[in-house]
Amino acid sequence: MPAPIILDHPLIQHKISLLRDKNTGSKDFRELVSEIAMLMCYEATRDLPLKEVEIETPVAIAKTKVISGRKVAFVPILRAGLGMVEGMLSLVPAAKIGHIGMYRDPETFEPHEYYCKLPSDITRREVIVLDPMLATGGSAIDAISQLKSKGVQNIKFLCIIAAPEGLEALSKAHPDVQIYAAAKDECLNEHKYIVPGLGDAGDRIFGTR
Ligand code: PRP
Ligand code: URA
Repeated sequence: MPAPIILDHPLIQHKISLLRDKNTGSKDFRELVSEIAMLMCYEATRDLPLKEVEIETPVAIAKTKVISGRKVAFVPILRAGLGMVEGMLSLVPAAKIGHIGMYRDPETFEPHEYYCKLPSDITRREVIVLDPMLATGGSAIDAISQLKSKGVQNIKFLCIIAAPEGLEALSKAHPDVQIYAAAKDECLNEHKYIVPGLGDAGDRIFGTR
């Protein structure tokens, strides 16, 4: 089981501090989520396979490398995962996008799927599932189970803030999935919100509260 990778680059830590601030408004919050996703994408695509090609420079022939093999798909978990898509696409513009809609029941905290639309060639792609928040892990576990039930084999999960409980549950349920998080927080509170966290990511991105 690969250990979760915590991407604690100084630029990411600085931006997360701004994200956590309750006085940060939706416009800035959205921009920060997108920028953090872009920085995380750089690390999460570090193992993309390369192949050697020859390119004619104005001076000589260069033996150089380009990305080869499997293509990439991003799958945001709605709603909050949508906030990460633009930043990811700024580094991998040719990626295809799937969507999985999940909401967490406010009483039971159980995830419920309400939407799933995936690229037709998703099984031939490396899939990176996006959600800024990994709390109990229920939403990520179910979204990844859904992808596996459709035949997807190569999956990574990228979140900004993770609770220890969610990291443990997701690693246990899907030990083949590499998890990337930008911060590992302390715990969950009685409402299963991440402490200290940043509140409700969907509401803060879309200004719905
Ligand atoms: C939030 C968040 C995750 C989920 C995390 O979504 O974006 O999807 O909760 O919690 P979990 O790890 O305990 O499942 P929410 O259900 O609030 O929906 P929203 O994005 O539409 O606001
Ligand atoms: N979902 C969020 O948006 N925030 C949390 O802290 C937990 C679940």
